[in-house]
Amino acid sequence: AGPCDLYSAGGTPCIAAHSTTRALYSAFSGSLYQVKRGSDDLTTNIAPISAGGVANAAAQDAFCASTTCLITVIYDQSGNGNHLTQAPPGGFKGPEANGFDNLASATGAPVTLNGQKAYGVFISPGTGYRNNKVSGSAIGDAAEGMYAIFDGTHYNGGCCFDYGNAETNSLDTGNGHMEALYFGTNSNWGSGSGSGPWVMADLENGLFSGQSSKQNTADPTITYRFLNSVLKGGPNKWAIKGGNAASGSLSTYYSGVRPTASGYNPMSKEGAIILGIGGDNSISAQGTFYEGVMTSGYPSDDVENSIQANIVAAKYATTSMNSGTALTAGQLISIRVTTSGYDTRYLAHTGATINTQVITSSSVTSLKQQASWTVRRGLGNSACWSFESKDMPGSYIRHYNFVLQLGANENSKAFNEDATFCSVAGRQHDSGLGLPNPILPPLRQRGLHWKQRWNSQF
Ligand code: AHR
Repeated sequence: AGPCDLYSAGGTPCIAAHSTTRALYSAFSGSLYQVKRGSDDLTTNIAPISAGGVANAAAQDAFCASTTCLITVIYDQSGNGNHLTQAPPGGFKGPEANGFDNLASATGAPVTLNGQKAYGVFISPGTGYRNNKVSGSAIGDAAEGMYAIFDGTHYNGGCCFDYGNAETNSLDTGNGHMEALYFGTNSNWGSGSGSGPWVMADLENGLFSGQSSKQNTADPTITYRFLNSVLKGGPNKWAIKGGNAASGSLSTYYSGVRPTASGYNPMSKEGAIILGIGGDNSISAQGTFYEGVMTSGYPSDDVENSIQANIVAAKYATTSMNSGTALTAGQLISIRVTTSGYDTRYLAHTGATINTQVITSSSVTSLKQQASWTVRRGLGNSACWSFESKDMPGSYIRHYNFVLQLGANENSKAFNEDATFCSVAGRQHDSGLGLPNPILPPLRQRGLHWKQRWNSQF
């Protein structure tokens, strides 16, 4: 059985089931998600390899070969049509055209399930998905449940990396108008023990870790690489749980009455569904989503325990984040453009500006050095890489505000992640929509792709 079969058997059926990695019903063989490729803007749907199985990542890889792909739709497997698409502007605007949020790279979060490759949804700040016209979700004080599997090592303190129930107009309409899972280190409202990250409930104008609107120390700092997070809420009761999605069982971090702060009892849930953003389209947060569902009714602990066992049996595991020519820490490289018509160019810097320059073996040394990079272990994730300037040691290629820059190491979490890139084989086409993400993305910028080449080839 899949997680939603277990919820159904318990009398609390899924009203939405989202996953780019696997079917969440044993009989589901329809589309899991849609990707759009950069070379010609065509889309294709990715389905499980077989009913109830893991996503056909090979079909995505074939469709996206030599170009970039974005996740355009995360389909609802429940049959209610509650698909997630690019989030529209709300209280806050996204970085895309007309204030829409960014879409996630389709290759940003590779994993394996039972040894088979699949891709999660890598959400960098500015990225978000939403459905404001959901059918069947909990409204007002009605009961609902939800779980989501996140990457417990990918988070920040921005508002708000959420999955769950939110406002139908993308605006902050007041306390109690949301009920969504939150994961991260934001402590502007509530917090748990330690320095985070925590699983909390975003109930609007507040992230709650328990009954108090401030700190509840029973909610632990939790950083499992694969994190199962659970939230449920009904009339004057709610609970937060968490556990390692790769082994063991769930723990209850809070189960009890609603917060006493005004507006949260009864609740005023509106029933939209968000992923990666706050209820008002706050877009400062980051995280990774693999699968999640929302139910009608307050699921039993027994059902949630059986779903945890189902998730463990799915065997989420990490896989290499890099492809193409292997890199080694300490090596000096240059990075050549692969886009046809531009392949005499190399990635270089002029002061703080990152650009491309035509460079040959007879170019002056200073220009060659501006295009020479020492490979370092990724400052923000040691599975990937950072690139230190040859002629400005201590400065690294980073992205900032969706373009690349050369920046002196600030030793902050944000700088480290902005300066970390995973390698991919050189490509011919870019969507012009995809933007460099912290930690995971190919080293690329609008319209150009680069591949690394030994400095001695100048
Ligand atoms: O509750 C925290 C956040 O506050 C919500 O996600 C957002 O809508 C508001 O800004």
